[in-house]
Amino acid sequence: MALSLTLRQLQVFEAVARHRSYTRAAEALYLTQPAVSMQVRQLEQQVGLALFEHVGRRLYLTAAGEEVLRLARSVLQQVGEAEAAIEALKGVRRGRLTIAVASTANYFAPHLLGRFAARHAGITVSLDVTNREGLLRHLHDNDVDMVIMGRPPEGLDLEAEPFMENPLVVIAPPDHPLLDERPVPLARLQEETFVVREPGSGTRIAMERHFQAHGVRLSTGMEMSSNEAIKQAVEAGLGLGIVSLHTLGMELELGRLVVLEAESFPIVRHWHLVHRRGKRLSPVAAAFAEFVRAEGARALPLPRLEVGTRRRGGGRRHRNRRDGARS
Ligand code: PGA
Repeated sequence: MALSLTLRQLQVFEAVARHRSYTRAAEALYLTQPAVSMQVRQLEQQVGLALFEHVGRRLYLTAAGEEVLRLARSVLQQVGEAEAAIEALKGVRRGRLTIAVASTANYFAPHLLGRFAARHAGITVSLDVTNREGLLRHLHDNDVDMVIMGRPPEGLDLEAEPFMENPLVVIAPPDHPLLDERPVPLARLQEETFVVREPGSGTRIAMERHFQAHGVRLSTGMEMSSNEAIKQAVEAGLGLGIVSLHTLGMELELGRLVVLEAESFPIVRHWHLVHRRGKRLSPVAAAFAEFVRAEGARALPLPRLEVGTRRRGGGRRHRNRRDGARS
């Protein structure tokens, strides 16, 4: 016959066994002694054997009592662990944050996560860096808390909030002749070869859409699947590139690349925090979304958008520029 023990019976029995006394167990559990006796009696009935025996004035466990005590302790321990885990899930203290970001967002996402994790020391973070196609898969499979991407896709039922600008700029090596043209007419860009991102990339799609909207046909040369590769290729003179300003901090500082002042640029896009509509965010995920909303853009200043021009003496000077097209 299957046992149908209750947790309460096991708790009471364990207390009596620990204290070797009904009276002390009752005190510890804030119960009356008859209530304790009744719980133990019911448990004994379930088991079909006596669990305690009195020898003289002392209370001892029977062999069956020892067995049930082992069971009781193991069950109560597991219940305690489950309770702790559930408590942790309710709070931000020990949760897990799973996010996926566009390859280009990788230039700021770790900083964002670092700041967030510094405030919530117990959390663990899992970050998948992938291109737009990979992000669409994550959204479709609903297997991450949220996604950071450029333009959210149409067709999936999503919640998407923009939180920071993502300007796309035209980059060139510092000795490029187009540095002398300000602004560089879009038609003039048609004569250049561009090193472009892979077809699944959000940057690539935005770039193509932008040129198409302006009736410009670009000649694309090499295709590369990372921003780093594009920057290296442009630096090596393999063509011009179009990348997010987020990717450029160091190269601009060191003067290894320059931003061309091209007509209708920068293409101003935005980063979005995206998840499936109606998704129940865990406390950690909700706290992260709140953090990004409140501080995302402030915590992550973009590199200064500087447009390089050549000085007469061959050197370069920079000037700030903030106008551009929206897309
Ligand atoms: P990606 O960037 O080019 O790295 O895919 C995503 C985006 O800008 O949408």
